[in-house]
Amino acid sequence: MKTIILKEEYQEELAQAGEILRKGGLVAIPTETVYGLAANALNPTAVSQIFKAKGRPNDNPLIVHICELSQLAPLVTEIPESALRLAEAFWPGPLTIILPKSSLVPYETSGNLDTVAIRLPSHPTAQAIIHAAGVPLAAPSANLSGKPSPTSFEHVFEDLNGRVDAIVKGQDCEVGVESTVITLTGEIPKILRPGGITKVQLEKVLGHVEIDPAVVQPLPAGEKVSSPGMKYTHYSPLADITIIDSSPHDFIQFVNQQKNAYALCFEEDIPFLTVPYVSYGSRYDGHTQAQRLFSALHELDELRAKTVYARIPSKNGVGLAVYNRLVRAAGFQIFNPLQAYIIGLTGPSGGGKSTVCRYLQDLGAEIIDCDLISKSPEVYDKNCLKELQNAFGNDIIKDGRLLRRELAKIAFSSEENKKKLNAITHPRILSKVWEKINQAKRNGKKLIAIDAPTLFESGLDDKCSRIFVVTASREQRLKRILERDHLTLEQAELRLSAQKPDNYYFSRADHIIHTDENTELSKRLAPIVQGLLRKLTSA
Ligand code: TXA
Ligand code: MG
Repeated sequence: MKTIILKEEYQEELAQAGEILRKGGLVAIPTETVYGLAANALNPTAVSQIFKAKGRPNDNPLIVHICELSQLAPLVTEIPESALRLAEAFWPGPLTIILPKSSLVPYETSGNLDTVAIRLPSHPTAQAIIHAAGVPLAAPSANLSGKPSPTSFEHVFEDLNGRVDAIVKGQDCEVGVESTVITLTGEIPKILRPGGITKVQLEKVLGHVEIDPAVVQPLPAGEKVSSPGMKYTHYSPLADITIIDSSPHDFIQFVNQQKNAYALCFEEDIPFLTVPYVSYGSRYDGHTQAQRLFSALHELDELRAKTVYARIPSKNGVGLAVYNRLVRAAGFQIFNPLQAYIIGLTGPSGGGKSTVCRYLQDLGAEIIDCDLISKSPEVYDKNCLKELQNAFGNDIIKDGRLLRRELAKIAFSSEENKKKLNAITHPRILSKVWEKINQAKRNGKKLIAIDAPTLFESGLDDKCSRIFVVTASREQRLKRILERDHLTLEQAELRLSAQKPDNYYFSRADHIIHTDENTELSKRLAPIVQGLLRKLTSA
């Protein structure tokens, strides 16, 4: 089949795409998530061509794309109020809602299910093409079944040229992973596939939302699936991928020792790698990871990479969508070279870190307290005192001993002095922490928690395989530091205002632990810790 290439800039070419679709043809189109392979969703013959072109199993249902809310009602038997609220909040955009289907939707489209998945994309080209076609469009991702989804025209061309009537050439996709799929057909709304719209965003609109277990785990053999797409091999590049479940530091150590391997890494890792690499975004930026992941998998194919070790993304926020795709691309192969977890505990002052540490200790973790280390005489040895004296003058030392108050007065008087102080003390504190980590490792500790208020600023996060952010409401934090540190209200307020904003911590967290309610805390921590330990024993 000759595939024609249409350009999104030209109205006539979009009209032509619409006409091909109306006549029962197949057209690949750009959307904000990934490119889709579209056909008239109400025409069973057209829809069956999609399955053929992609090599897709017939029981894997398609998403029906509309361009106006008024197109929804005829496709479903009922529209619950929750669906309207979701539509209001997230449409047009990367959210797919599953509802009971009407008889207008053929079983070919719904993969023989009595439900149908509907999405109203925000991409102007996608909208224009649906409009031009005059019918709702069924559109799975425009890749060969099992391969990584396409986020650029080139990806689509490679997989589908010669197999479809037309490809509409647009820009690279903005979101980069497919839409969040949520079903409203059960009692509690359930995420079947994570995507650009996160659980937290959905819960703001719906209240409690569940995540289907198949999102992060392989399905037990024979288990009935809520989303048929979950049971097939997915996103597989040619290479054999293993996810390395470790800190950035341990990842780099591990991958640099491997022969003929590629690293699928974050940008921050690049300077330290001695093996070839492809990067997929920045460590604490789930959005760039989502945007880059599929094109990184494509790049690895182009490089003919055979063995790839991948950095583990956080499962928080959009990270869950990234993890869900990567773990499938890796066929659920995950390896923890350390056979232990190093947890970085951080968060704003008064957030409740010490309490969480105590519970973690009860659960078997070794605790490394950075505040304690930063005040220990081990850090302030002779050499250190000499450097401090050179930097801040003789007044900070008396009889060979450090006058802490004097040092604090000078060191905290300006940003520049603070930097000078950190440059002298931080490396020493870090090496002590590192020593203690190694000691705990030698003692066979499986869980090591570093309590570090300045985890990110000190660079210690580099040594952590998980980050727990411990926090509480401002009110609660204020109360705690007033009681604990004997400050005036004004001083306490000042300290809280000087803290990094919540989002700074949240965007970097694997787990956010709220401690306003202390009573439930150990019960909430236990499953997280047990989950980590289980991973070690099942490896
Ligand atoms: O972002 C997206 O959603 C992209 C673009 C093109 O819009 N489309 C896409 O389609 O990712 P596809 O076919 O690759 O993925 C559809 C997913 C599959 O996992 C499928 O099992 C699930 O949605 N799905 C569709 N209808 C369903 C239904 N009635 N019940 C449960 N899951 C359904
Ligand atoms: Mg797909």
